[in-house]
Amino acid sequence: MESNEILSLLAEHYKLKGSLIPLAGELDLNYKLTIDNETAFIVKISRDPETIASIAFQEALLCHLKEKEIEGEVPQLIQNLSGTYQKEVFLNGKKAILRVLQWVEGRLWSQTNPILSDLRYGLGNHLGNIAQNLQDFKHPFAQRSFEWNLSECLWVEQHLGLFTATELELVTPFITAFKTHQKTYNQLPKSIIHNDANDHNIVVSQALIQPKIIGIIDYGDACYSQTINDLAVACTYGIMDTEDPLAASLPIVKGYHQANELSETAISHLYHLIGMRLVISLTKAAINKKSHPENKYLLVSEKPAWALLHKWWKINSKRAYYSFRKACGFKAHPNLAKFEQWGKANTFSLKTLFPSQKKQDTLHLDLSVSSLWIENEAAFNDLTYFQYKIERLQEANPHKIIAGGYLEPRPLYTSEDYDIQSNEGPISRCVHLGVDFWLPSKTPVHALLDGRVVMALDRKGEKEYGGFVVLEHQIDAMHFYTLYGHLDPESIAAHKVGDALKKDSLIGLLGNKENNGNWAPHLHFQILLDLLDYTEDFPGVQTYQEQDLWADLCPDPNLLFKSEELKPKLKPTTEDIMPFRKKHLGKSLSIQYQEPLQVVRGHGAYLIDQNGQKYLDTVNNVAHVGHEHPSVVKAGQQQMAVLNTNTRYLHPNLNKAAKAIIDTLPKGLEVVHFVNSGSEANELALRMAYTVTGGKEVIASEHGYHGNTNGTIGVSSYKFNGKGGQGKPKDTHLIPMPDAFRGKYRGENTGSLYAQEVHKTIASIHEQQKTLAGFIIEPIISCGGQVPLPNNFLALAYKAVRAAGGLCISDEVQTGCGRMGTHFWGFELYGVSPDIVTIGKPLGNGHPVAAVVCTQEVAQKFANGMEFFNTFGGNPVSCAIASETLNVVKKEKLQENANQVGSYLIQALKALQKDFPILKDVRGHGLFIGIELLSDQQNPLALETSYLANRMKDLGILMSTDGPDHNVLKIKPPMVFSFSQADRLLHGLRRVLKEDFLSVPKTL
Ligand SMILES: Cc1ncc(COP(=O)(O)O)c(C=O)c1O
Repeated sequence: MESNEILSLLAEHYKLKGSLIPLAGELDLNYKLTIDNETAFIVKISRDPETIASIAFQEALLCHLKEKEIEGEVPQLIQNLSGTYQKEVFLNGKKAILRVLQWVEGRLWSQTNPILSDLRYGLGNHLGNIAQNLQDFKHPFAQRSFEWNLSECLWVEQHLGLFTATELELVTPFITAFKTHQKTYNQLPKSIIHNDANDHNIVVSQALIQPKIIGIIDYGDACYSQTINDLAVACTYGIMDTEDPLAASLPIVKGYHQANELSETAISHLYHLIGMRLVISLTKAAINKKSHPENKYLLVSEKPAWALLHKWWKINSKRAYYSFRKACGFKAHPNLAKFEQWGKANTFSLKTLFPSQKKQDTLHLDLSVSSLWIENEAAFNDLTYFQYKIERLQEANPHKIIAGGYLEPRPLYTSEDYDIQSNEGPISRCVHLGVDFWLPSKTPVHALLDGRVVMALDRKGEKEYGGFVVLEHQIDAMHFYTLYGHLDPESIAAHKVGDALKKDSLIGLLGNKENNGNWAPHLHFQILLDLLDYTEDFPGVQTYQEQDLWADLCPDPNLLFKSEELKPKLKPTTEDIMPFRKKHLGKSLSIQYQEPLQVVRGHGAYLIDQNGQKYLDTVNNVAHVGHEHPSVVKAGQQQMAVLNTNTRYLHPNLNKAAKAIIDTLPKGLEVVHFVNSGSEANELALRMAYTVTGGKEVIASEHGYHGNTNGTIGVSSYKFNGKGGQGKPKDTHLIPMPDAFRGKYRGENTGSLYAQEVHKTIASIHEQQKTLAGFIIEPIISCGGQVPLPNNFLALAYKAVRAAGGLCISDEVQTGCGRMGTHFWGFELYGVSPDIVTIGKPLGNGHPVAAVVCTQEVAQKFANGMEFFNTFGGNPVSCAIASETLNVVKKEKLQENANQVGSYLIQALKALQKDFPILKDVRGHGLFIGIELLSDQQNPLALETSYLANRMKDLGILMSTDGPDHNVLKIKPPMVFSFSQADRLLHGLRRVLKEDFLSVPKTL
């Protein structure tokens, strides 16, 4: 009824005809008008006196911006037939103002997922641009009194009675802070601002990957106020529902500052203003709730605002201020330049700090992620051993103080206290902010400068500071602090907060392992430009993501000592490594990820990059029992230290490793040939088949991969039919990939149909008067997309091959050594036993050792007089490693773990399929799983699969894709993969699957 009336008004005043869709609006009636399904307008009917009064102002503002031709879209008013932008009309007999604006094409911020830093930067930048272009715009209406104007926010105080005591705890600090800073705030530059960049007013492009800001709509709340308030409003909405709102706000601030420069004073108000904007929203919500108690929506919509206020309140305001400064390109601390200057002009001797030490020179100790000195986690967490090594180093360098560590990313901080939740998943604090001086316990530590004690206490606990002192110093008008950690608590017990300490006086003695967090004795020395309101602690390590901020707050202590050795040691960056690799390493080597990872350390199911970023590895089935498993490493190191030679001498390791393998295999498979890689194992297996049968013809599966040697490429259709491949050799015979999900024959009972293909192939070989040598296949075809073989296929196929005189080779390079969970070997899933088994990747847990195991009969026939000699294969080091890997599988019950965690994961992934229908198939056994992504029309979704893997990397989870159509996600993590790691993987998948690029229905 109403819309008919509006349509006729539009025809009368604008000559526009089309169809109307009602839109949400607080005071105005809003409609989308579409003409011929294409051109769109927004029709606004204002009946509320308040909005009517503002219409002329909005009109002037939009016309002003139109003239400025700013980048991005600004809503355009459409002229009516009288040549004006507004028309007084009567709707339902009531006076109203009709306006028409051009539709800004796109979607709303509130409908965009994910919102990443680039988009937040774009928001800030666009808003800054608008603010910049409104600097010279004036209008009397903008000066009206307005509850949403942050500068008038104290009206909320009249409504504090609406809040509970707990709510008040969050609200009042912001009101108090606002009042405290009101004087300087009032002096901040003012201009007319948009004032309402909320998630329903920000229009984002339709691009589902890296969308851009199109524009900001709805100028109804524009007013004259402190210019910074606009940014505060945008931040408030732009960081809602984030894990770390401060981190989320920084790109918005940065983008804004690039377009409209903020002063350092303005920045100092931002934290409180964001809090205050939330307080206004929540007060409004509380008032509405009281007047409309029946409206449950009000309750739901205020929830995220309360959650944000709670998080915001917990953030230290100074820390936020320094972060904003850094985002704007200022030094995070205003005194940094002054401190650096003073540091340059004043040099301190280590003799002042440690007067008992004759030595002054330092020797750099590398404790960074890539340091070989610290060895693996088991080694560096063995603090007795760590201390022993430090002492040896001290003995070897009697004239030097072992020291270092400023801005060093370290893997040492493994307790959960160091983990934090970022907007992109868990990250850990690992960058060291001070310098460590490794000296014996009881070494006296003295004051470098006059100071006043601001903290002196015993910070008890594992990997804590122990005895801990912070001194405050004043140089001219500049205050800074020096921090001393790992002191003997007794030696500092006499210090009280406020005590003056003269230069050269004793601060305390270095603690020992027992009284300083179980660290080997050392001094952690750090400079602080601000205490950030800490009174009993101060962080000594921070995240890599915030390294630049903290480097400004905790400057390099070497500014005082100026020692060459103490200078931070630069490690090779990606930029250092790439050019050489590109030029001098094989041109067909590939690199994963657009931004390649430089991985320098592994532990369990984690890989760690040079900056200390930890990635959960769901891909690497080579690190079978966990990256750098300590007992496997030790087995290799110990044997390597004693002997490594070839198999022409007797050595018990060879027998031991062979026995360990044979013990896991069915009876009959009992002769082992050690080689160095999966390719070599398959090459040898093929040669055995040729020698034993006298034949040359080999049957293999489509999309199979068996290695990189000439012979194995010849049976790998994944390679010879792939890019750069030479096509199928004439003695290779392919059967269709036995894929019951999307292969030639589909469904449960297709094993015999695929086996028929083997029969047909044998018949064709025989027709050509040729002799079958063998049949090679993986029990679950990995490169083919983690495809398990259909029931009964392998039994029937083996029978046919054997009947034709061929040998059956099971390629267990990917699937073997317990990964299947229920069985130790993949072929056992199907109740068969091959003639030859090839083992590769997992056997050495990353060390190149592989094996071919066959029957006595095959071995006898293969031994035709030609010696099998392999320089490295079967050497005592590799054998020690292989034995220990198998031993760890047994000792740590990793096959059982693969079964339990794998079944859990498969079940949970199947449950995920219900919510995300693009996950068309979940398949696999144990910890060898594939997820196939297809559209509703069953078309492969390669881009979506790659998107998923890339976004998971952003969340700190490594995944890989495979399959002939590149649409299968592979999960084959180290076998130590735990339930909680599976949960993290599932959580990440669920989060990414909800993102727009994946959740928009795929109807290809
Ligand atoms: C099933 C299968 N067989 C053989 C190989 C070759 O092993 P390697 O790379 O150790 O030579 C691979 C390697 O990925 C494989 O996946």
